[in-house]
Amino acid sequence: MKVAIASDHGGINIREEIKGLLKELNIEFEDFGCECETSVDYPDYALPVAEKVANGEFDRGILICGTGIGMSIAANKVKGIRCALVHDLFSAKATREHNDSNILAMGERVIGPGLALEIAKVWLTTDYEGGRHANRVQKIHAIEK
Ligand code: RB5
Repeated sequence: MKVAIASDHGGINIREEIKGLLKELNIEFEDFGCECETSVDYPDYALPVAEKVANGEFDRGILICGTGIGMSIAANKVKGIRCALVHDLFSAKATREHNDSNILAMGERVIGPGLALEIAKVWLTTDYEGGRHANRVQKIHAIEK
């Protein structure tokens, strides 16, 4: 699995923690910034990650901002992206099993690094169930046409 990760200035710390987790899990990843601690615009970081997941260069993406909301809204504008904003373990598992989410968004001003790492771990290691969910995911993509 190859993961693309990015954050704005509001998500730098959790991004660094998750990079450590990805190393621990032996998951290949690339960091798409941001580099700075000054204020940046989250769509500038959501877009490259979403495009690279949508075009198959990367299998999954992880985006962090202050709330996770801006990143998830921006990522979901890209065709083929199913970005889930997650702040609890139940949803982390369910969105992989049911929605086959391909990007995880979280907010560093909402949850701490401990929970963020647990969420990322569950999300990265849970498989899509397919079956009855496949038709529903298909219907999401039909909306894009
Ligand atoms: C930046 O101040 C903040 O708006 C951003 O990190 C995010 O929370 C947007 O949804």
